[in-house]
Amino acid sequence: MKVKVLMVCLGNICRSPLAEGILQAKLPQENFLVDSAGTGNWHVGEQPDSRSIEVAKKYGIDLTTQRARQFKKSDFSTFDHIFVMDQSNYNNVIQLAETAEDKAKVRLLLEVLDATKKAEVPDPYYGGPDGFEHVYQLIDQACTLIASDLKS
Ligand code: 4NP
Repeated sequence: MKVKVLMVCLGNICRSPLAEGILQAKLPQENFLVDSAGTGNWHVGEQPDSRSIEVAKKYGIDLTTQRARQFKKSDFSTFDHIFVMDQSNYNNVIQLAETAEDKAKVRLLLEVLDATKKAEVPDPYYGGPDGFEHVYQLIDQACTLIASDLKS
């Protein structure tokens, strides 16, 4: 059975599509499934933000086939690991958890870099392209560690 990983942000158009594409590129498809979702429903059905598409393309990752969807309760049973980008995403996802097992699947993405810091992937939506580059680098660092943990 494949190990399933879900990346979650607010809109599922900026940060979590990048996290999906970046982690997917670091893992063999035969053994892992990576998906993403947003806690909000405003952008359901849309392609990722063009600025996320552009920064990913720069590093050889194609996000154009992704479409935004909303996080749903059944994601807790579908996925083995749920990574959220910020504390607000964490609160929104945890509110839908029904069991301790559900809750234990949810972690802040950047906790893998330093568990003591509770660092967040900042929302780049209202900023410029520099914000997307910064977010790409943060997510990439975390996903390198996640991929090596999951493969070992
Ligand atoms: P994301 O960024 O959560 O990284 O996809 C956002 C995208 C859209 C909105 C907020 C955050 N919005 O309010 O529409």
